[in-house]
Amino acid sequence: MNWWEGEFLRVRNNRLYLEGQPAEQLAEKYGTPLYVYSRKQLLRNLRSLREAFSPVPAGLEVRVAYAMKANPHRGILKTLLKGGCWIDAVSPGEVQTALKAGFSEEKIIFTGTSICQKDFEQVLQHPGVTVNIDAYEQIDLLEAARRRSRIRQPVRVSVRWNPGLGRGFCSQTVTAGDRSSDGSPIKFGVEDSRVLATFRRLQSLGFKLVGLHQHLGSGWTEEDFPVTVKAVDRMIKKAGELKKAGFELEFLDFGGGFGPRYKEEQRLFPLPEYAAYILDKVERAKLGLKAIVIEPGKHLAAEAGVLLVRVEYIKKSYGNLFACVNAGTFNTVPRPAIYEEAYHEIVNASQVNGGKKQKVTVAGHLCETGDVFGIERILPLPRCGHILAILMAGAYCHSMASRFNLREIPKEIVL
Ligand SMILES: Cc1ncc(COP(=O)(O)O)c(C=O)c1O
Repeated sequence: MNWWEGEFLRVRNNRLYLEGQPAEQLAEKYGTPLYVYSRKQLLRNLRSLREAFSPVPAGLEVRVAYAMKANPHRGILKTLLKGGCWIDAVSPGEVQTALKAGFSEEKIIFTGTSICQKDFEQVLQHPGVTVNIDAYEQIDLLEAARRRSRIRQPVRVSVRWNPGLGRGFCSQTVTAGDRSSDGSPIKFGVEDSRVLATFRRLQSLGFKLVGLHQHLGSGWTEEDFPVTVKAVDRMIKKAGELKKAGFELEFLDFGGGFGPRYKEEQRLFPLPEYAAYILDKVERAKLGLKAIVIEPGKHLAAEAGVLLVRVEYIKKSYGNLFACVNAGTFNTVPRPAIYEEAYHEIVNASQVNGGKKQKVTVAGHLCETGDVFGIERILPLPRCGHILAILMAGAYCHSMASRFNLREIPKEIVL
């Protein structure tokens, strides 16, 4: 069995099946390139997350707020709504999309960075949404938006703080700490020394303070565990200080970041240990919380999607072999073009194994050297007309795709 096989992806007669359907048949029926998502896999991923966070201590609720930036496809949102999820939205557009998919205002947490007053006004049209403040400097904008919107009910507000520690699979995905691993400054969250002042100012303006939030980064693996639990400790300590200052919070939001398996050799983030650590610390701290929140994106959606592309021809040049496919990375699976460290496994759906393995670069159809799905992968040489599956394409692929070179962003189907 291949490391990536499971209930969604199965090999039968040397061909790839997606939830029991031959990938080649789907490619033939709907055309390529094509994103294929699995509802069942999404729910399996949700189940594994809930299992990690159980048993839940009495009186506490674990809210799974899907980071919809990962993939806002309506079918995915509706599936997760049925699965009892909340939503982490980062723009007024995402708030609207979540509402249209059926999420109630009360189940949406809006976390915006570099926000303008108009953004807040649009969000406050839905006064049940919790607004997660990212900067002390946002308070005036929020207050101005509230006055213009003439909202009577108290607006629910939480504060995203920056605990001074962050972790991500590459420098661009570290979202806390003073600087990222490449030395660039981190723009997110309220720094430690200003958290209390932020709470007090919001309180003085009559906002209802309900939570404290942090998000350290994205794509954690096993080696990130020590830092992530240290950040949990910092969050609990900060919540204790806030309690002493008179702020009784409803929830602590620990953000997302848990990486699914992109590579065979990747050691997985120990989610059950992390969950147990949070639950234990929260229970002992006696903070009077009603809930803890987590905001997974990748964990839920990445594994639940693949991209199918067709090999148009095999090109030889200066001793290099290229499988040239009918899609461009920027328009489909842009992560490797954005993040040098990003990796997506490539499977020949028409002939999974067999044939002499060779070094093949899977090249896209864009006018850009970096437009390659995989560089010098050791694969049996595909043939013209073969269907390749780019795995882990359910998160941050369609949602990050552009129309570079005026190519269309492919269709999506949900099985
Ligand atoms: C505020 C916030 N929460 C949650 C997430 C989800 O992260 P992931 O998809 O790694 O779980 C992100 C993504 O960067 C984020 O910015």
